[in-house]
Amino acid sequence: MFLKEKSHYPIGVFDSGVGGLTVLQEIRRQLPQESVIYFGDTARVPWGSRSPAEIIEFVRQILIWMQSQEVKMVVMACNTSSALALDVLRDSFDLPILGLILPGARAAVRNGRRIGVIATSATIKSNAYAQAIEESLAESQEQAQVWQVACPEFVPLVEAGRIKDSYTLEVAIEYLTPLIEADIDTLVFGCTHYPHLASLFRQILPDHVQFIDPAEHIVSAAARELELLGLHVGLRHNSKNSKNSKKSIDRAHTRFCVSGDPEQFAQLSSRWLNKTPSVEKVTLSPVELLS
Ligand code: DGL
Repeated sequence: MFLKEKSHYPIGVFDSGVGGLTVLQEIRRQLPQESVIYFGDTARVPWGSRSPAEIIEFVRQILIWMQSQEVKMVVMACNTSSALALDVLRDSFDLPILGLILPGARAAVRNGRRIGVIATSATIKSNAYAQAIEESLAESQEQAQVWQVACPEFVPLVEAGRIKDSYTLEVAIEYLTPLIEADIDTLVFGCTHYPHLASLFRQILPDHVQFIDPAEHIVSAAARELELLGLHVGLRHNSKNSKNSKKSIDRAHTRFCVSGDPEQFAQLSSRWLNKTPSVEKVTLSPVELLS
C-alpha cells in the first residue's frame, strides 16, 4: 500500500460511550480534513469500574475491529484504556496507537504546581497519571504535587444525559471538595466524559484553577505523528491549493458505530454534535467478543 493512498483512510477513535466525542470535537477543530470512525462500546459502559483484565480484553477486541476497518491510526479517546491497555497492546498491532495520559500529564506540568487529577476508579488505581506527571517533571526538571480523586458516578450520569441535574452538582461538590482544600491550581480531566461537565466544575472551583483537557494535546500529538509518517490528508493553506483543501474538508466524514443501542447514542450525542448522527450497531465477531 502506498502511503499516499493510505493517507485517505480514516482515523479510528474509540471510547466506552459519549466521552470520546470530546476528542472527536478536537479532531474536527485541529484536523478538519481527516475522516474518522468513532466506536462507542455502549453495551459495556462504564469501563472505569471494571478489572484491568476486562478492560484490556475489550480494547483488544476493539483494536482488532478497527484494524479490519482499515484505519490508518487509532486514537484511544478513553483514559481508562490509555492507562490500562495501551502499553500492554500497542506492540501487538501494526498501527500507530495514541493514548491520552502522557499528553495530559505533560500539559499539566507545563501549567501548574498543584495538580488535581479526576478520573475513573480504574485509572486512579492504575496510578498512571501520577507516574506520567512524575516522568514529565523529571524531563522538565520541575517540581509539583499531585492529588488524585476517583469519580465513579460521573460516567453513568453523563451517559444518562444528566449533565445539569442538581444531583450531578451535589456529586461534583463531593468529589471536588478535597481538591479545593488542597488548593490546586490545575485540574486534569482524566476521563473524556468529564469535559461534558466542565461548566458544572467551573461553578464549584475557584476561578484561578485552570482546566487541562488532554483531548487537545492528544490531537496535536496525532497531527504531528500523521505528518511524520506521511499519513496526513494534504491540506495546504496557500492559495494555489485552496480548492483542493476545501475538497478534502468536504470529503472528511465521521462514521459512528456502537455496540449497544444506536438510537440511544444518536439521541444523546446530538446535544454535542448539534445534529442527530446516523449510528450503526456493530457486533464484534464471536472470536473477538469474549465477554
Ligand atoms: N471516557 C472514559 C475515560 O476516559 C470513561 C470510561 C468509563 O468508565 O466508561 O476514562
